[in-house]
Amino acid sequence: MVGTARNGPASVKRNKLNNHGEDVDVDDDDESIGNGDGSPHQPRQAEHLQQHHAQKSLHIAPMIRVTNREFRQLMRILSKRCVLWTEMVVDETIFYCSKSKSPSTSTGDATSTFNREKVDVHLDYDRSMEHPIICQIGGIDPEHTAYTSRIVVDEYGYDEINLNMDCPSDRVQGKEFGAILMKDEKVNRACEIIQSMKKSSSNVAISVKCRIGIDDDENYEFIHQLIQRLHKAGCNKFYMHARKVLLKGLSPIQNRIVPPLNYPIIYRLCEDFPKIDFYINGGISGLRAAKRLVYGYDDEKKGEDKDANIKNNQHSVPCRVCNYPNGSCIVPPSKSNVPSNLRGCMLGRAMMDNPSLLWDCDRYFYGEDNNPCRTRREVLTQYINYLERVYPRRCCDDQDYIQTNRIPSPSVIHTKDYCEVCSDWRNNNCLITSNVNNNNIIINNGGKVKIKITSHVLQRSIRPILGLFFGLSMSKAFRRRCEELIADKIIRNCGPAFVLASALRIVPDEVLDREFIRTEDLSNVVEHVSPQQ
Ligand SMILES: Cc1cc2nc3c(=O)[nH]c(=O)nc-3n(C[C@H](O)[C@H](O)[C@H](O)COP(=O)(O)O)c2cc1C
Repeated sequence: MVGTARNGPASVKRNKLNNHGEDVDVDDDDESIGNGDGSPHQPRQAEHLQQHHAQKSLHIAPMIRVTNREFRQLMRILSKRCVLWTEMVVDETIFYCSKSKSPSTSTGDATSTFNREKVDVHLDYDRSMEHPIICQIGGIDPEHTAYTSRIVVDEYGYDEINLNMDCPSDRVQGKEFGAILMKDEKVNRACEIIQSMKKSSSNVAISVKCRIGIDDDENYEFIHQLIQRLHKAGCNKFYMHARKVLLKGLSPIQNRIVPPLNYPIIYRLCEDFPKIDFYINGGISGLRAAKRLVYGYDDEKKGEDKDANIKNNQHSVPCRVCNYPNGSCIVPPSKSNVPSNLRGCMLGRAMMDNPSLLWDCDRYFYGEDNNPCRTRREVLTQYINYLERVYPRRCCDDQDYIQTNRIPSPSVIHTKDYCEVCSDWRNNNCLITSNVNNNNIIINNGGKVKIKITSHVLQRSIRPILGLFFGLSMSKAFRRRCEELIADKIIRNCGPAFVLASALRIVPDEVLDREFIRTEDLSNVVEHVSPQQ
């Protein structure tokens, strides 16, 4: 049983966004989420996704060392509607760190064994912004996955729990979880894990993210049987990375490039399992490709023969129709042929490399009237405000022995109001100002400065933004400037918000204020992530 947490149930936020990006009031006495005593919870957590059922959804793929809180915040600034995913969280980590003792585990309850502070490092998120959000778990021990699922749902109120059966990295393979669970001899274990997760998470959906084949097991019968067995164990939702995985001989990066993509196999699974929800992942380059995949392309408009299209949807790999370099088949279904249980799609590297693409998600993909932001300046202003809130400056306190290394930032007492490096900026309401000709921040790598904000914090904060100017001429210069400033020991203590604002001085106003281009007006759209990436 999960013990009573320090912040208890009240730590689950009362003002949430529903799936339409609207504020939902949570009544004071409706604190059923996170009751923390293991008693059956109310289904509120799952609503974010359940309300959504009639509509297709766009997911931002789980990516280790990428989809952290900072990255997710950026995604949420760009889209109120897309579904966010955590990085993979290892069940064993939650199991042990939640039971570990630390001096600050002060629930006031001598019997409590739940170390919220430690678990927060892995599972905490911004309840007011991040819903709908799915927590991905990696694990092999049903006891640990069950325990972790209970915490994920009861204590943190995630909207869905996902089991990682996709990751082929050596480290993950060594622990016998991730993609290796797709191996025939391991599937029984995967089924036990799903059953254990399901028991511990009541109304919250359990899903699996997997590939379409593994090693030599790559024919349709194999994946059909795998889905059948996992479905029997209680899983009704599958995020299908539409390429097989090779456990030996390919690195994780190569495993996302070399094996061909095969979308038609997913359409076939949709047909064969009408009661299961499927989501396509792998190689989707942006919103246009995403929408064509899940809503189908307009065969009438193209004047193409409908029957031929239906056949095309089912053609085999390698495919001469798609003309995709490494023998993949990435044909989208025609509108008249979209499986109704193809519920959505998932984008990974496209969002990591070129996050601006997401700006048009709410209008173009979800059919909203407007998007949250129209220019990069609007995005950056919100993101800088966020950084300022979660990682405040450390240049005006004397508590050199306390380091800011993660959220929540330690609270410190400011002994002075004024810092000669960042005061002007703060007095100016933390505005983003272009100063292209007078780029006068002094890079200072010398001298003895006590570093109070770690480089880890700086990297996490700035990295999500590095691709925001993707495709624009000053993109490289901006990235370089960020690197230089991150290395500057003096400016670092002024906080990541100031570092980012300082790097932005080299970006002309005209670029910051230029309106994003509507997805349908984009020219030269690459429909899929290049197999070389
Ligand atoms: C840096 C990186 C880290 C990833 N980490 C995970 C992970 O933890 N769990 C997982 O299921 N997939 C992980 N993936 C795979 C992605 O979720 C996704 O399945 C893959 O990138 C294919 O989608 P894409 O072509 O849209 O990038 C990772 C991918 C990248 C690039």
